[in-house]
Amino acid sequence: MEFSYVNPTQIHFGQGKIASVTDAIPSTSKVLVIYGGGSIKKNGVYQQVQNALSQHTWIEFSGVEPNPTMENLDKAVALVKAEKVDFILAVGGGSVIDGAKYVAAAACYDGAGWDILLGKHTVTKAIAIGAVLTLPATGSESNSGSVITRAATQDKLPFSSPAVQPKFAVLDADAMKTLPERQLINGLVDAWVHTCEQYLTMPTGAMVQDGYAEALLKNLLTLAKQYDQHTTLQWRENLMWTANQALNGLIGAGVPQDWATHMIGHEMTALYGVDHARSLAIVQPSLLRNQLTVKKAKLEQLGHNVFALAAGDDLAERTIVAIEAFYHSLNVATQLTEHGDDKASAIDKIIAQLEAHKMTALGEHQAITLTQSREILQLAIK
Ligand code: NZQ
Ligand code: ZN
Repeated sequence: MEFSYVNPTQIHFGQGKIASVTDAIPSTSKVLVIYGGGSIKKNGVYQQVQNALSQHTWIEFSGVEPNPTMENLDKAVALVKAEKVDFILAVGGGSVIDGAKYVAAAACYDGAGWDILLGKHTVTKAIAIGAVLTLPATGSESNSGSVITRAATQDKLPFSSPAVQPKFAVLDADAMKTLPERQLINGLVDAWVHTCEQYLTMPTGAMVQDGYAEALLKNLLTLAKQYDQHTTLQWRENLMWTANQALNGLIGAGVPQDWATHMIGHEMTALYGVDHARSLAIVQPSLLRNQLTVKKAKLEQLGHNVFALAAGDDLAERTIVAIEAFYHSLNVATQLTEHGDDKASAIDKIIAQLEAHKMTALGEHQAITLTQSREILQLAIK
């Protein structure tokens, strides 16, 4: 264990907390409120943001799409530069918050914004961001990561910088009232896989990280079992806080991390439009089977501590079956069907994109080369 850890995002958690935006953004700031396709106008969130900013100078940019694109966000970058915006308030889910991070960084850079995703420009400076979360899933509201798509080439790439981590995040579970069930379930699945990416590697003996990860996984299992209570405040608040904690840096501090499921999943989203979380449910079980030998000990720990499965030689495999059953209980598929019926060419396309994006040595041992990815896709694609 060796790490330096800080999470500088102030969390304002609870009903009515959107009002805290008033004091969280300096009154002298010129604010850009950035949001998505308009769901915030149907659940009172937009109105509450308007009220909170009644004494501020602000403008807005709407229409950030799920899996936000550089092409669209560059319009917001131009707006920020022209209007000399010095604070961005992202109001939405992961896509809006990730989009805000790109805009905040690209607006402080003279070159093409895509350079950030290519690693040609390292982000050290960005406009300050705050977030009002409406969809618990990604943890983007209090982490430094962002995933952006270039639509023209179907590239979906991540970047990360402490400079784009939100200064504050409002987590009011009432904002979830209008969430379609599909998105609620996406949140459960994404948070589950985030926890696994930082836990299902090799034994480290890191008791805090393991124990906390297991607590989060147990929460998600419980919330799935109690899915009939998803309209209660308690259910919503527990999902909101669990998803936040799953990717705020804490459980990943000082331990090996995987992220191969995410990198392969991103290609499925870029090529076939699969929801982010659903791409993960498609890839993960097949990836775990492919990596069973190296992940055996941790799979057994998960099976024992989270699923309460009995000991035995086949515990690791039974744990993967239990993960699949968790997805299926939520009606989430574990094989890709969106590609139509040409499996061979779908595999080739995904492999070509992984190669183009230099995703050729993934996982905690960098052992998932294109050969392993191809084997994983053989299992994961129907
Ligand atoms: O556009 P609006 O109108 O806001 O509608 C959205 C969108 O259609 C809707 N929605 C959000 N809150 C709602 C609501 N509808 C009704 N009521 C509400 N309260 O939900 C749809 C999906 O939203 P989106 O933001 O795309 O979902 P999510 O939060 O799952 O974000 C997915 C994106 O985050 C990236 C993914 O790759 C994907 O692009 N990720 C970001 C990460 C990070 N920054 O740390 C990590 C993740 O692993 C992930 O890769
Ligand atoms: Zn994710």
